[in-house]
Amino acid sequence: MKSRTSMKCKLYVLSVVASCAISGPAWAADAPSAGNVQNARDKISMCIGCHGIPGYKASFPELYHVPMIAGQNAKYIEAALNEYKKGARSHPTMDAIAGSLSDQDIADLAAYYSQLK
Ligand code: HEC
Repeated sequence: MKSRTSMKCKLYVLSVVASCAISGPAWAADAPSAGNVQNARDKISMCIGCHGIPGYKASFPELYHVPMIAGQNAKYIEAALNEYKKGARSHPTMDAIAGSLSDQDIADLAAYYSQLK
């Protein structure tokens, strides 16, 4: 993580949101299907403790088997989160986390994690 750029990132996100109010780019119009990678950066703090960051494996040795989500297909990540949210799939932590996410959050997170290598 490049923490020194995080302030810049936040400002970037703000300016994107601001310009969006004026010009309304395509991704805002067809939300939540279009995930926004920049917007996800504020949301991944909920996930990195368990799912780690790129190149960082198994944050909790043994306690949980935490699946690798970086580089997965965005549709796959979205589907998995929706399944936890709706109860089609169950895991105590992921149920709680997914339940607190909006459709847009899920789309953004899926876009973010799918572009990680
Ligand atoms: C407390 C630890 C923890 C946190 C925090 C957490 N996860 Fe998970 N996650 C897990 C575990 C454990 C599993 C495997 C659960 C299972 O077996 O069904 C999982 C499964 C998943 C899966 C399904 C992966 C697959 O291959 O089936 C996705 C997608 C996912 N998490 C995304 C997220 C996102 C996005 C966040 C942040 C918003 C997040 N998780 C936060 C522990 C966590």
